[in-house]
Amino acid sequence: MFSKLKYLKLFFILNAIYTPILSNAANANFEKWILKEYNISQTKMLANFSRPDTVKGTIVAAPSYENPNYYYHWIRDGSVAIGSVILLLENEPDESIRKNLQQHIQNFIEVSKIHQNQNTPAGLGEVKFMPSGEAFLGTWMRPQNDGPAIRALVLSYYALNLIDKGQIDFVKNNLYNEAWPANTLIKKDLEYISNEWKEPCFDIWEEVYGDHFFTRLIQAQALNIGSQLAEKLNDPGAAHWYKTQSLLIKDSLKEFWNAKAMQIDATKNYLNNHDKESNLDTAALLAITSVGCSCNQDFGISDPRTIATAQKLKDVFEKLYPINLTYPKLGTAIGRYPEDTYNGYESGRVGNPWFLTTAALASYSYRLAWSLKKEESFIITEITQPYFKYILRNNPELQKAFEIGTTIKTNSPLFQELFKALFKEGDRYLKRVRFHMDSDGSMSEQFNRTTGYMQGAENLTMSYTAFIRSVLSRNNLIPF
Ligand code: NOJ
Ligand code: NOJ
Repeated sequence: MFSKLKYLKLFFILNAIYTPILSNAANANFEKWILKEYNISQTKMLANFSRPDTVKGTIVAAPSYENPNYYYHWIRDGSVAIGSVILLLENEPDESIRKNLQQHIQNFIEVSKIHQNQNTPAGLGEVKFMPSGEAFLGTWMRPQNDGPAIRALVLSYYALNLIDKGQIDFVKNNLYNEAWPANTLIKKDLEYISNEWKEPCFDIWEEVYGDHFFTRLIQAQALNIGSQLAEKLNDPGAAHWYKTQSLLIKDSLKEFWNAKAMQIDATKNYLNNHDKESNLDTAALLAITSVGCSCNQDFGISDPRTIATAQKLKDVFEKLYPINLTYPKLGTAIGRYPEDTYNGYESGRVGNPWFLTTAALASYSYRLAWSLKKEESFIITEITQPYFKYILRNNPELQKAFEIGTTIKTNSPLFQELFKALFKEGDRYLKRVRFHMDSDGSMSEQFNRTTGYMQGAENLTMSYTAFIRSVLSRNNLIPF
């Protein structure tokens, strides 16, 4: 996996961006580690794809047959992973590696058709599939409607790219065409989402039944990109329907902002919220870093409501996990939600920080830096001030400039300092991840809140995906 060309390309990008910012030996060492772990993450993630005892295209959540048994293709985990493969492909110059990545996407498309054609209790909201490609039909928390939305989203993005490259026939035969009733992969998912989004379902952590911010935001974005695809492929009625539903979903998201608690709430209208009294959940930020626009509205990256939620998550987890006090120089270890009791093996125990949620906060810091830079200026409000003051905590002089009502011009030296501080914050989260991972670069699902040792499923696919996304975010290479 580790090609010289790739190394050179990334190194070039990193150098161009950081030379003025970071220059000492410790930083050079850190930069080297990032590249190394970026490659290790690719190799280890891809090792969970099309394993010999699975139907080709199957992506297991982790190569773990018991305690916990993660040897299934979850629609969510698999689609998130293939989304990162699509991005890796975009940034990969080496032809033989590109071929390999393309083959993985092709295998995913094939296995997804098998999954979609199974007879399941939850329709396309069915959650996980066995290595044979058949649906898991035992008792489970179903439906989980984020899965088909993530799949439609990443494949629509891929399909639009293929159309740009002139591969319209491939797209029509394998991914989307206007035939009705829908008989193509993406259109089936889009039909399901656009007709089902108002229905309650289980959340991404498979615990709470209700209406979820994560699920809704991804559905809105899937229908938005899906409508662009429908438009390109001469399916105007569908394009209009998907777009309309997407806007309705976006509108429904307003309800999730909790001005009193200064956070985006995870869930509304739940039956049983799994004792999640705070309704604060990293899932909200995960959704935004996965699909949020680089904008300051509609729950984009620099939307004040997003900024406030990032700050709240940091505050709450900082106090909750003892390792955050033991190693205060590293970024805050972040979990799923404060009341979590799943320890990676069973519920009703003590929850821990996860690699994927901690890496998501790294991604967020980097993406916020880049997103703000795109704007001409922004105003400090009472909603965003605590976050900026925190980011600038080592620079009291600068902090003073970030008073409520102040306009920060992004071509000012002041902003340069903020940009650097946001990068540093992102790097601190990655240093936290580095500290708790295995010395060979492997990552499980969680690390213990007190001892710091890894636990839960080993080699979790989504831990590697999250790391890859954080490096791409650092390099400003996330297109959606
Ligand atoms: C397994 C799920 O995947 C996990 O998210 C959940 O916390 C536990 N089961 C308990 O429901
Ligand atoms: C538990 C997580 O909560 C869920 O999001 C995930 O899909 C499964 N584990 C498999 O990784």
